[in-house]
Amino acid sequence: MIVRRGFTAPPSFHTPMLREATLGHFVEVITNGRGAMYSYADRVPLEDRWAIAAYLRALQLSQHAELRSLGEEDARRAREALR
Ligand code: HEM
Repeated sequence: MIVRRGFTAPPSFHTPMLREATLGHFVEVITNGRGAMYSYADRVPLEDRWAIAAYLRALQLSQHAELRSLGEEDARRAREALR
């Protein structure tokens, strides 16, 4: 939507760099802005910034998770689902 209205395109959250970014990085970007992105510090309370960062990580993991990062039971279920 922002691109349709003439704004710079935001990056995908699924790039290797942003997959490896810390939650603190996301909070920092929301707090201070970055490049074309404005700061949202005056509109999003700090606690919500951390909650958004945690949700972003969940979205990233929903598209890319290593089998070896899972516990035994989850790994077994994932292997079954992939069969
Ligand atoms: C709280 C919600 C948001 C989060 C968590 C977020 C997060 C991020 C992150 C992680 C980046 C990449 C920073 C990096 O290169 O390391 C980024 C870039 C960007 N975001 Fe956001 N963003 C949010 C809201 C928005 C909104 C509402 C807009 C548009 C109105 C926006 C526009 C952009 C743009 C254009 C960039 C690219 C900036 C550049 O490289 O020049 N973001 N954002």
